[in-house]
Amino acid sequence: MSEQKLFSFRNSWFSTSVGTTVAIAIASALAGLIWLPLAQPDLKLAGIWDAICSAAGIPRAPVSASVQQPDFKTSNVVLTPDTIGRKDAVSIGRGATLAQRCAICHGPQGVSDANSPNLAGQFAEVTYKELHDFKTGARVNVVMSPFAANMSDQDMKDVAAYYAYLPRVPSSKADEKVPPPPIVVTGAPMRNIPPCGSCHGELDYKAGSPWLGGQSAVYIKAQLQAFAAGARRNDISQQMRNIARHMTAEEIDQVARYYEAQP
Ligand code: HEC
Ligand code: HEC
Repeated sequence: MSEQKLFSFRNSWFSTSVGTTVAIAIASALAGLIWLPLAQPDLKLAGIWDAICSAAGIPRAPVSASVQQPDFKTSNVVLTPDTIGRKDAVSIGRGATLAQRCAICHGPQGVSDANSPNLAGQFAEVTYKELHDFKTGARVNVVMSPFAANMSDQDMKDVAAYYAYLPRVPSSKADEKVPPPPIVVTGAPMRNIPPCGSCHGELDYKAGSPWLGGQSAVYIKAQLQAFAAGARRNDISQQMRNIARHMTAEEIDQVARYYEAQP
């Protein structure tokens, strides 16, 4: 057996393997910390030190101090359990008086025959948020927007409380035989679509999601198409736009017919 020490640089096996390891480490550090960051076309780096900091994940100072603003209005409603406040008889009574103006389109009982959305039994938070968005211009509709334009905050809360208080009337198009489309029950995980029912009430409910059952198919279809096209963009964090964009025309048709047939 050789008398040579194992951990000595005089041992050629030891020096070669340590040398190779160090060379690989240096080469990968150069590639990972300098070459790859500099090769990114979108990353504007000032120099080598900047590239190393960026690769190490050190937050960089924003390029411009001003936050980029979208060129359209976004919803500024914050929904909390106290958003609506009192839903007492006074509020509901005031809401009923104010809602007389709405009856020609939304129906005297909050149920529309004219493909305007039904409001009876809708969550007060939803009605309030939508009215607020119509008023600020975050949601735009030539027919509806003028009616929200001169409502005060309390007006909107009272009307919302009134419609939430009205009973949901069974839809005239209710049909138990229409089966729920897969997208309502299971969503489409490969396209990042959660089941509709996980927010809209069948499986679970997320604040701010409207009740869809009994809404006319024409209305539902129009809203989904508007979300997909970006014509309606008042949904906070693009919750609905991200979903609608990835739905097929056939799926939109199916959900519209399904929800219309719900009581
Ligand atoms: C001239 C007809 C008309 C009148 C009057 C009217 N609306 Fe509307 N409303 C509509 C239409 C049409 C829509 C659907 C807009 C869309 O497609 O984006 C709508 C939508 C809404 C929505 C959104 C519903 C949802 O599920 O997203 C609310 C809330 C609402 N209206 C409340 C009211 C209130 C409250 C009044 C009375 C102060 C009123 N509307 C008066 C036609 C009308
Ligand atoms: C992550 C929760 C979530 C899921 C999942 C979801 N939605 Fe929504 N949806 C919302 C919210 C929140 C709104 C209200 C947007 C706003 O603020 O105006 C909405 C609004 C809508 C509207 C407009 C209703 C109205 O009256 O204005 C339709 C139609 C709709 N969703 C259909 C669907 C369908 C169909 C699916 C399944 C493919 C689905 N949604 C899945 C959260 C969700």
